[in-house]
Amino acid sequence: LSLPLPLLSAILFSLRVCRAADIPEDATSEFSVRLYHQLQAAGDQDNIIFSPLSVAVALGMVELGARGASLEEIRQAVGFSHLLQGVEFSLLQNLTTALTDDDANYVIRFANSLFLQEGITFNPEFLHLMRKYFRAEVETVDFSESAAVAEQINSWVENHTESKIRELLSAEDFSSVTRLTLVNAVYFRGSWKNQFRPENTRTFSFSKDDGSEVQTLMMYQQGDFYYGEFSDGSQEAGGVYQVLEMPYEGEDMSMMIVLPRQEVPLASLEPIIKAPLLEEWANNVKRQKVEVYLPRFKVEQKIDLRSTLQELGIKKIFTNDADLSAMTDGKDLYIGKAVQKAYLEVTEEGAEGAVGSGMIALTRTLVLYPQVMADHPFFFVIRHRRTGSILFMGRVMTPEVIDPNDHDFDSM
Ligand SMILES: *[C@@H]1O[C@H](CO)[C@@H](O)[C@H](O)[C@H]1NC(C)=O
Ligand SMILES: *[C@@H]1O[C@H](CO)[C@@H](O)[C@H](O)[C@H]1NC(C)=O
Repeated sequence: LSLPLPLLSAILFSLRVCRAADIPEDATSEFSVRLYHQLQAAGDQDNIIFSPLSVAVALGMVELGARGASLEEIRQAVGFSHLLQGVEFSLLQNLTTALTDDDANYVIRFANSLFLQEGITFNPEFLHLMRKYFRAEVETVDFSESAAVAEQINSWVENHTESKIRELLSAEDFSSVTRLTLVNAVYFRGSWKNQFRPENTRTFSFSKDDGSEVQTLMMYQQGDFYYGEFSDGSQEAGGVYQVLEMPYEGEDMSMMIVLPRQEVPLASLEPIIKAPLLEEWANNVKRQKVEVYLPRFKVEQKIDLRSTLQELGIKKIFTNDADLSAMTDGKDLYIGKAVQKAYLEVTEEGAEGAVGSGMIALTRTLVLYPQVMADHPFFFVIRHRRTGSILFMGRVMTPEVIDPNDHDFDSM
């Protein structure tokens, strides 16, 4: 943290890099950040993980079947209102296609589907567009058999997420009046371009924002990453903070970690997070050698999209006023349930590995390179570098907690 402040401001206000014309630009980042702030307001000291792109895709699927004010609300909230009507479907298609490229070195599974009550028929045109833009499946179920429906949907989700997302819904989520359920799950697995060596992982104290400490497995490496130090020029965000971008193999995807100074709670930094700032970070980090201390973590969250999206202005599709007339002929149709479950596991390489045991104090002296020590809460995004699509956004308030006296740990 040695850059003088004037330079930092210069970094912050520098011009954006223009994208090549043929690359779709994600228009939904504003929406992503608003979703984050909504979850942050609801979630106090919890970890957060969600997939903005996946929510946008799910909403796109609903939008295909929506008309009138129901449709307008979605376009407004997601940030499509400046586009010609309908262009957003092609945009979403291009973004997801860019991500699910066959040559990719990572695995992404989107599991998006609409489940409709048996006996109601979908409009053929709607089904055609669903397949065209979203390669999405539409299933019919009998919601009055609530336990069987929950099992069927859960197994469908499990099948589409390499079994990482289980028990998404339960029987209580359905009743005989349920007609339509939107299911949205996403799974990602990528290996770091520069992997952490498991033998360098140590137990380490992680200081939570409430002042308490937990023991975690801290990974370590010194390697070439994209790195920058930023400040918004005020003390609001706690002064200078660090941004580290760590690419996954192939460099198509990367994880960006945003870390306030040790004594600054993440809650002080969160309010400044805005869509243009994400882009500033991405455009201004520079490739250089960095010493990285990153805890292993596993985050999982189930979000009630119904209440969250209503807060962001998408209301009608969840009420009797919904106009989903492009989807089916049924006049009384609305979305009864919308949930997202996201899961992310960050390890040395992406697979299980042996870890060093015992307590070791790592020194902070003799700093040759910038040091990113994520031993306190941080914000992260996993994004597609070419399009800026945000696959995941979240924060780690508590990493994977271990008990150093545990014999299982000693034997690892
Ligand atoms: C999506 O990609 C196709 C084919 O490259 C292109 O013609 C279309 O304009 C793109 N759509 C958007 C919204 O960028
Ligand atoms: C899940 O996959 C298994 C094995 O491929 C298959 O038998 C089952 O029908 C699938 N379930 C759903 C709900 O798709």
